Amino acid sequence: MKEKVVLKLGGSLIKQGPELLLSLKNWVKDRKIQLLVVPGGGPFANQIRDMEETTGFDDDTAHWLAILSMEQYGIYLREKTKIETTATLSSFEGVRILLPYRFLTDNDDLPHSWGVTSDTIGAKFAQMSGANYIKVTDVDGILQEGNLLREITASDIIKMGQSCVDTCLPNYLIKHEMNCTIVNGNYFSRITETIMGNRDTGTYIRGKF
Ligand SMILES: Nc1ncnc2c1ncn2[C@@H]1O[C@H](COP(=O)(O)OP(=O)(O)O)[C@@H](O)[C@H]1O
Ligand SMILES: [Mg+2]
Repeated sequence: MKEKVVLKLGGSLIKQGPELLLSLKNWVKDRKIQLLVVPGGGPFANQIRDMEETTGFDDDTAHWLAILSMEQYGIYLREKTKIETTATLSSFEGVRILLPYRFLTDNDDLPHSWGVTSDTIGAKFAQMSGANYIKVTDVDGILQEGNLLREITASDIIKMGQSCVDTCLPNYLIKHEMNCTIVNGNYFSRITETIMGNRDTGTYIRGKF
């Protein structure tokens, strides 16, 4: 059986994103791994945030425009890598980039707020496909007073207030008894080691305890 992994690729890594995905595609080849890449919103979502400040949107509109910004990042990654996109959770070989808009309008059960961003949306896709969940970002993991936390419970993230995950993710992980690993995408081997189940780098967030 194939191991399923959902990897949320942060908008923070937009410059490195295409090369990173091509390296992952090559690495996944001949391995029994199905890798679904959930794009963040990055600069596309920031435009929506700016527009919201100047013109104002209601929460529903802001939510769908933000999800369309993930769709835009996905289409950008497809163009740069020629990796196929998918709009469903059907099984596939190798790597696919998820375009989330249609799936989420058909399965509309997340709160429509800026507390739900691609971190929580990635968790939803991992939960629905029974996959391990990894967030790839531009920091080593969750930092507390400058120190990297190797492991933290989702409820302790809620107590921390600000972290490098969106505010709804810890609640989502607890509700669905899921875990999530945060890993720095500037070091390719950290991503592959994490996919292989090695916890030597990054932060492991426990939603099940
Ligand atoms: N406690 C924290 N630990 C780590 N990163 C934090 C923390 N608080 C805020 N951050 C910020 O979160 C950023 C990562 O989140 P974000 O910008 O949303 O990235 P991505 O686009 O990859 O989701 C880091 O670059 C860092 O500046
Ligand atoms: Mg983010």
